[in-house]
Amino acid sequence: METWKRVAQVGDISPDTNTLRVMLDGEGVCLYDLQGEICATQDRCPHGNASLADGYLEDGTIECPLHQGVFDIRSGKPKCPPVTTDLRRYEVKVDGDVIYLKAEAA
Ligand code: FES
Repeated sequence: METWKRVAQVGDISPDTNTLRVMLDGEGVCLYDLQGEICATQDRCPHGNASLADGYLEDGTIECPLHQGVFDIRSGKPKCPPVTTDLRRYEVKVDGDVIYLKAEAA
């Protein structure tokens, strides 16, 4: 069974960073606004204890604020060292201004 959870509104995403950290089932998730396309990945960098919502978004990539590892946001793939692990991605649904993430089935 599909379960979608309301996590934010599009307007909640910072226009400065184009990111927003939200919680889904106790996990930090980073929302990204890629010029109107909303994407979501795990918020914690797999390399260390950094929040990707504090990173630098450019051309569909997010640069970790701690050691400058870069990930492709849409695929979750690492693009440059020191990061080597894919990001977990989340399915996103936008209805009007409301952002939903697909949650694990209960
Ligand atoms: Fe993100 Fe090291 S914590 S690159």
